[in-house]
Amino acid sequence: MTVGPLPPLAAGVPLLGNALRMMGDVQQFFVDTYRDLGPVFRVRALNQSFVIMAGAAANRFLLEHGEKVFTSEESFGGLDREFGMRVHVLHGRPHRHLRGLLATSLSRDLLAARWEPVAAETERILDGWANRPALPVVDACQRLAAAQLSIAYTGSSSASQFETLRSAFELVLDVTVAGKWPAATLRWPAYRRARAAIHQFARTALAERAARPRHGIPDLLDQALDATDEHGAPYPLDVRAGMALQGYFAGVNTVAYLYSFMIDVLLRNPAVLARVTDEVDAAQRGGPLVFDRLRELPALHGLVMETLRVHPPAPGSARTAAQAFDFGGCRIEQGQRVLVATCVTHHLPEHFPDPQRFDLDRDFTAGRKAAVYAPFSVGGHTCLGAGMTQVLSVATVAMLVRRLRLSPTRPGRPLRITATPGPNPGRRFRVSASRRQH
Ligand code: HEM
Repeated sequence: MTVGPLPPLAAGVPLLGNALRMMGDVQQFFVDTYRDLGPVFRVRALNQSFVIMAGAAANRFLLEHGEKVFTSEESFGGLDREFGMRVHVLHGRPHRHLRGLLATSLSRDLLAARWEPVAAETERILDGWANRPALPVVDACQRLAAAQLSIAYTGSSSASQFETLRSAFELVLDVTVAGKWPAATLRWPAYRRARAAIHQFARTALAERAARPRHGIPDLLDQALDATDEHGAPYPLDVRAGMALQGYFAGVNTVAYLYSFMIDVLLRNPAVLARVTDEVDAAQRGGPLVFDRLRELPALHGLVMETLRVHPPAPGSARTAAQAFDFGGCRIEQGQRVLVATCVTHHLPEHFPDPQRFDLDRDFTAGRKAAVYAPFSVGGHTCLGAGMTQVLSVATVAMLVRRLRLSPTRPGRPLRITATPGPNPGRRFRVSASRRQH
């Protein structure tokens, strides 16, 4: 039997390899290299080497064979070891079981149940943006997303722990998933202190809930307190604490990057802003925006879907080959780190006609069916927060355009995407915000 050649190597610079493009607009880099080299290629970033698989066949491969040929241990094991977040690394029955528990605990139903406090906190935070002459958008959106998700999932805001959570989770991701820093970084005293504070935070939240149970729909803390494994035995405390932290780790940056990109889109496209604003104003003429009316905002849904298409905050699924396999005529050896760049298809005209056009009315039905629309990945580890993200994003933009008028502090500045740890519009993206008069 003949064995295929190694995937072709993407052109890069000495020593750094492709690191600069991987730390910048990584999605565009994957699209460009897919066009040059085809559906499988190698990239180097400093001392790391990854095989990138991209295009419709790669998404199908992840969907159909991902559970068999890949492991997530190398990419996500650090999260499990550091913070007890186990769902990312499990396989088979134990995975399906924990996923099932988290699916209920992270569902959009919690937002419906906690809509009033989440909406009130969102309005309070957005009002604080008003009259800020140079609001740092990504930072402001991270704080907003953290407050919203923690109220929805646990009933109270995590604002006091925000900076500790953000810095520790970003470092773990940079070290373990992206491989930007050596593993020894996780022994730094500042990181160890942050990690200890996060463990304490999660355990205290669980202990307080156990001492003072709440009534109503069980939330993430209730589910984590009672969680048992697939044999009915209680999960160890670190796994239950990891469940309680899951919303912060998996949700805050991704949701915040989505919000930040949506703000960029609204500022660059006056016609999109006008349509979305008109839709929200019309919906609110009949009174305040209640949860059930969020479904009736098609332009806002289009904005969320299209922003996730053009600017996916998590443009790939990181894995390691558990066995050697062939893909695209090339051989991928066992042990090779692989990134399935699930969102390259979003930019290909055969799947999304006129992909450069930002189209609020684009129909995603066929793209979803064919697994070529994949901002939440595809297969067994697909995002468990997708439903929450979609409805929360619609609600947030509705409240934003209703209350605030935003303008860029540097009009005409091109969008400069940076991947720290995921693609986002960068720290220098700033806007000024003022209250809208009604
Ligand atoms: C714009 C927002 C979001 C995006 C783009 C996003 C994207 C993704 C992607 C691409 C994956 C698959 C990772 C892989 O294949 O290894 C994933 C998994 C996951 N996401 Fe999200 N996510 C978002 C928001 C959220 C939120 C709000 C939560 C809530 C906590 C969440 C919870 C999870 C969990 C628990 C998994 C792991 C599922 C598993 O391994 O079985 N995500 N997400």
